[in-house]
Amino acid sequence: MKNIQQTDPKIAKIIASEIDRQKNGAEMIASENFVSLAVLETAGSVLTNKYAEGYPSKRYYGGNQFIDQSESLAIERAKQLFKAEHVNVQPHAGSQANMEAYFALAELGDTILGFSLSHGGHLTHGHPVNFSGKFYNFIHYGVDKEKELIDLDEVRSLAKKHKPKIILAGASAYSRKIDFKPFKEIADEVGAYLMVDMAHIAGLIATGLHPDPVPYSDVVTTTTHKTLRGPRGAMILCKTEDRINPKDKKNLAQKIDSAVFPGMQGGPLEHIIAAKAVAFAETLKPEFKEYQQQVINNCKVLENKFRAAGIRMVSDGTDNHLLMIDVTTVGLSGKEAETLLDEIHIFTNKNMIPFDQRKPMDPSGIRLGTAALTTRGLKEPDVEVIADIIIDTLKTKKATKDNKQKVLDLMKQFPLYPEL
Ligand SMILES: Cc1ncc(COP(=O)(O)O)c(C=O)c1O
Repeated sequence: MKNIQQTDPKIAKIIASEIDRQKNGAEMIASENFVSLAVLETAGSVLTNKYAEGYPSKRYYGGNQFIDQSESLAIERAKQLFKAEHVNVQPHAGSQANMEAYFALAELGDTILGFSLSHGGHLTHGHPVNFSGKFYNFIHYGVDKEKELIDLDEVRSLAKKHKPKIILAGASAYSRKIDFKPFKEIADEVGAYLMVDMAHIAGLIATGLHPDPVPYSDVVTTTTHKTLRGPRGAMILCKTEDRINPKDKKNLAQKIDSAVFPGMQGGPLEHIIAAKAVAFAETLKPEFKEYQQQVINNCKVLENKFRAAGIRMVSDGTDNHLLMIDVTTVGLSGKEAETLLDEIHIFTNKNMIPFDQRKPMDPSGIRLGTAALTTRGLKEPDVEVIADIIIDTLKTKKATKDNKQKVLDLMKQFPLYPEL
């Protein structure tokens, strides 16, 4: 920070304030996490200076002998982690990874069957304001009304009716396990590629705590910064052979690589790719499985507490790192709930719930996750304290000084980045 302070005190102050915010709050945004200092150092390293268009040992620039080593390490570790045939670690972010996968598998205007945004899918799964909804003919399946679980009958009937090029599974706000085998069966029945966006649950999958999409899918995309606890970025895993078009000049792995570069991106972010390699080395350690199990255990604490408090949960609970609650059951909107919790330093996000009657900017739900809290070291009794504070705040509709102090006191017991 010394150098930033000297050259740009304004930015130095902003970074210092953000470090303070992260330290002094309960981070419950389900898509966020805290990287290790090793990942942080690597992401801030001189590797940022290097142009490396192309792939290891096939670059358009000289001087890549060291960059090649770190990108190769990232690829090898990711392959080991997910038992994948082929991995591309260059996607800058999850949205780019999805765009690149669509580019590799489909022509513009082709039909893709994905999970409805309002039921838990992501913007890049065909929202009309996003490139995906503009470039492709997206059809959406959802959850059933009663149990709020993915409706596989609907997936099958839509697939038969619309004959999509790609069937897409994966979600941003779905708290139950996704079984990928029936998706593969449906994809086979209609001759579609199966693509899975495992961005949220990648850490759980890497440790065997969630059904694995890799054996069933043609292509799997993921961000690296959510439960996987790496730097902000993404990657694409795929089979080598193209099951649907085996006679094409390029196999599937080649199609993915050329969709990433030169199709969509220019120079890869090699400092981030090296940071991905560091994170993957961490995720390969046995402690990472213990961490992921604790993430789930902590989320179960929230489930039990909300159930006891009579707060309705989407699909009545959770199997993973996140939970969706319907705050209209306590007479609040999602926006009001998010603001109240923000005021006492519990960070969450408002979220649409299935069959929501309200608007996206002020929906009926909030989404809560335990990945970041668990990285700080919180265990079941600590999450109980947080749950009680949330319930009290939502039920009384008041952001009290007392509850804010309780959050601050609890977070002090779990120091974050003491070195910074
Ligand atoms: C399922 C899913 N896919 C893709 C993305 C996009 O990732 P990014 O924000 O890195 O573009 C997200 C982000 O939240 C996500 O939840």
